[in-house]
Amino acid sequence: MAFQNLTLEVADRIAVLTVNRPDKLNALNDATIAEIGHAFDEIRLDESVAGIIVTGAGRAFVAGADISELASQTPVLAKGRSRAGQDVFRRIETCPKPVIAAVNGFALGGGCELAMACHIRIASEAAKFGQPESKLGILPGFGGSQRLARLVGKGRAIQLLLTGEMIDASEAYRIGLVNRVVHAAELMGSAKQMMKQILANGPLAVALCIEAVDRGLEMSLDEGLILEANHFGLLAATEDMREGMGAFLDKRTASFKGR
Ligand code: COA
Repeated sequence: MAFQNLTLEVADRIAVLTVNRPDKLNALNDATIAEIGHAFDEIRLDESVAGIIVTGAGRAFVAGADISELASQTPVLAKGRSRAGQDVFRRIETCPKPVIAAVNGFALGGGCELAMACHIRIASEAAKFGQPESKLGILPGFGGSQRLARLVGKGRAIQLLLTGEMIDASEAYRIGLVNRVVHAAELMGSAKQMMKQILANGPLAVALCIEAVDRGLEMSLDEGLILEANHFGLLAATEDMREGMGAFLDKRTASFKGR
């Protein structure tokens, strides 16, 4: 599919999805949100893609939802916009293939929310994070009020939401919002290197780890432990388990097939 506001490039089983409206700091208008949804639907089914890196063109990752569209929204349109964005970001979060956000610059509002919907976040030293919606008289609409607290804890999340303050990459790392901070020039290399490390592992195991953590966080510990045991049992039926353990015992590198 051809995209107006994204680029999608695949190499070495890794898709790089770049939000590409640099003159608007990659602000997410409705069309861009819809394109991200279509891209993820495509990627999910594309057997040549095993992992996805999400990044932004130019000096921003994504500077938020497009304020020029939000400015005239009615309550009904606003709720619909929020639900549509939440749906797209949830599709990213539940993608069985690993998704890494390579945060190259501003990740504000919807940009911070996009990064949080990815499984792992690697930030350039130039990255800046924040949920400035309260400065505009709104609150985050693409999951930020829910995912931020799950990632950094209630107290820090409420501080960021209420003040609308921007934090730099090192502070984002300190509070657990990002997994790693690297020099700007090393950002894509670092994201690809981590992705390759993941892709060397069993893809079914990776997919079920994503699901176990995602679903498990919404369950009681006892329910989560049952989910884990079910996944553990399911993986015991796979060729990948036999390959992974056989390779260990034979002292060779495993070659997983995802079945
Ligand atoms: N929606 C729409 N347009 C946006 C945008 C957004 N969220 N963020 C940036 N832009 C546009 C600007 O309007 C400007 O467009 P123009 O050149 O046509 O005037 C262009 O992107 C460049 O942004 P500018 O503000 O000139 O860059 P800056 O370096 O001075 O400031 C920011 C960068 C990120 C601090 C500033 O753009 C900003 O505060 N953006 C909004 C952040 C926000 O509130 N996001 C949450 C939205 S819910």
